Amino acid sequence: MPPEPTHARFREWFSPIVHLSSNFISRVGVVLVTIGGVLWLYLLPMALRGEVVHPYIGILIFMGLPAVFFGGLLLIAAGIAIQKHRELRRGVYPAKFPPLDFNNREFRHLLLFVGIATMANIVIGTQLVYGGVTYMDSVTFCGRTCHTVMKPEYVTYLHSPHARVACVQCHIGPGASWFVRSKLSGVHQVFAVLLNTYPRPIPVPISNLRPARETCEQCHWPARFEGNRLVIIPHYATDQANTRTTTVLLMHIGGGNGQGGIHGAHVAAGVRILYGADPSRQKVHWVEYENTRTGKKLLYVDNQTHSATIHFQTGRSMDCIDCHNQPAHQFHLPNEAMNTELAAGRIDAQLPYIKREGVALLKASYRTQQEATQSIPRALTEFYRTKFPVVAARQQQAIARSASALAQIYRDNVFPRMKIGWGYYPNNLGHMAFPGCFRCHGNLHLAGHADETLTQDCTVCHNPLAIQSPNPAILQQLGLTGTQPQGVNPGQ
Ligand code: HEC
Ligand code: HEC
Ligand code: HEC
Ligand code: HEC
Ligand code: HEC
Repeated sequence: MPPEPTHARFREWFSPIVHLSSNFISRVGVVLVTIGGVLWLYLLPMALRGEVVHPYIGILIFMGLPAVFFGGLLLIAAGIAIQKHRELRRGVYPAKFPPLDFNNREFRHLLLFVGIATMANIVIGTQLVYGGVTYMDSVTFCGRTCHTVMKPEYVTYLHSPHARVACVQCHIGPGASWFVRSKLSGVHQVFAVLLNTYPRPIPVPISNLRPARETCEQCHWPARFEGNRLVIIPHYATDQANTRTTTVLLMHIGGGNGQGGIHGAHVAAGVRILYGADPSRQKVHWVEYENTRTGKKLLYVDNQTHSATIHFQTGRSMDCIDCHNQPAHQFHLPNEAMNTELAAGRIDAQLPYIKREGVALLKASYRTQQEATQSIPRALTEFYRTKFPVVAARQQQAIARSASALAQIYRDNVFPRMKIGWGYYPNNLGHMAFPGCFRCHGNLHLAGHADETLTQDCTVCHNPLAIQSPNPAILQQLGLTGTQPQGVNPGQ
């Protein structure tokens, strides 16, 4: 006997399926398969181009829609099996099937049904997908949807210089491979939120953050950094008059085009700095510096570390966030935050002892933000009522305004529900409240030279033009005197 032609074999195999699939369960399966298939085709190209970056979309694309699709296939198969069993039992299962052409009513119906389901999904998909994806990628979604978890980051972000940069531009950045990586960790994160197993606070440093140079340099690139920047930092004392002094630094920002300075030293072309530290990156044990343009290569180590025990493979390559670790989520300390608010006039510097009382009230312990919001203004008002009754009577408004600015400082920096207290997140840009630059500068010795350290020369990073001076001569020279606004350095 000659072998059967392929199409005949196919018909023999397919005809019973066409016949049996005209049952309710299989039809539901067909609808699911088309939903899964059509939406998946819509989302996948966006995902691969890196346009869609939210973890929920990732879950949808990589788990949800495939589950719907294969679930639908299973239903189709189950419907067919049940139908066959039923027809066999009743003895109505046909011995022979009509050919698969348009005269076959069942075949026509199946095609029509699949066609309508697909069309409906295309129409619905077009309407839904774009809006849904744009929403899920938005800052509102990232910051608010899992709001307890992300609240600290969202609130601090809103006060940062990057308040108009979308979360995903730093946390994921362009390109498909990091998109997929972020999806995988996103899936894990969503489950952590659903199951309430996420860590409080969220620990830093984020170990799988994309190398900052690939994200930050989309907008800032080292060749563009300027030479110097005047940084003006206000200070208020804890005396009755809240005496103001000012620090003025000329920061040697520098750039990557051989202009030296801070950026020239660490992120210029040809420079590579590798370092080893504890998991918090706050204690640096060794640093290797290499400049391929000058051929310079040096190793610096701390007192406890022997050069021979260093494993360079375990080192971290220094990038922007080793200094700018709070570009978007700036957590301030009470003293510093009060200085800023006093300088900005939101807290009234005319109120006696406001600096001292404010810092004390901020540092007191409160169980929730609501409790702080109620207690801080009450306590401040009480302080003036008992200690300075005349001020309390005459300056009611100034006290109320200052009190609410004080409570606002608390709400912007302390998040009891996430167990974030003052100073939990260190700021590496500086060397006063946290080790910052001095993690390396000052503690690390050139290998083999106990007396030679990484520079701690005050003028290498900044010229200290005035340090807590009541009336800095430099500001007078610049014409910034008296009532003229001096501006407040936004930090980072
Ligand atoms: C300008 C870039 C940038 C933007 C914009 C940004 N982040 Fe971050 N984010 C960072 C950096 C850098 C870190 C710190 C990484 C480290 O210390 O390892 C971080 C840390 C975090 C952390 C870990 C906890 C912490 O506070 O350090 C979370 C959670 C987070 N970001 C969420 C968000 C959310 C939500 C948004 C949008 C509302 C956002 N980020 C916007 C750069 C950014
Ligand atoms: C999508 C663009 C974009 C990305 C990505 C971005 N930034 Fe920025 N950044 C800006 C803009 C815009 C400003 C200016 C804000 C202003 O002038 O108030 C800025 C300001 C800054 C400043 C100066 C703040 C100040 O005090 O004036 C620093 C430092 C900075 N960014 C660091 C970073 C770091 C580090 C990263 C990567 C983690 C990053 N940026 C990612 C757009 C971006
Ligand atoms: C060694 C630490 C260090 C590294 C690494 C570093 N920066 Fe900076 N950066 C600083 C300091 C310090 C300042 C000045 C801060 C100030 O003015 O208070 C600064 C200032 C800036 C500014 C503001 C510039 C201006 O002219 O106002 C931007 C933007 C910036 N850095 C972005 C970056 C980016 C992007 C990278 C990574 C390519 C980077 N930085 C790497 C320490 C660093
Ligand atoms: C992880 C270690 C590390 C940290 C943290 C670090 N630096 Fe550096 N820094 C280095 C190394 C290494 C060199 C190069 C030393 C050399 O040339 O021998 C350097 C050089 C410099 C130089 C040039 C010094 C010179 O003599 O020309 C400046 C300026 C500087 N750093 C500023 C900063 C500032 C500001 C910070 C903090 C915001 C900082 N560094 C944080 C490792 C670090
Ligand atoms: C490795 C670089 C580096 C060295 C060395 C260095 N500083 Fe700084 N310093 C910084 C940075 C970065 C800041 C933060 C600037 C900002 O807040 O914008 C800073 C801030 C300061 C401030 C302002 C603090 C405040 O909040 O009022 C003072 C004062 C200061 N430095 C003094 C010194 C003195 C004195 C020395 C010498 C013993 C010195 N620094 C050495 C990098 C350095």
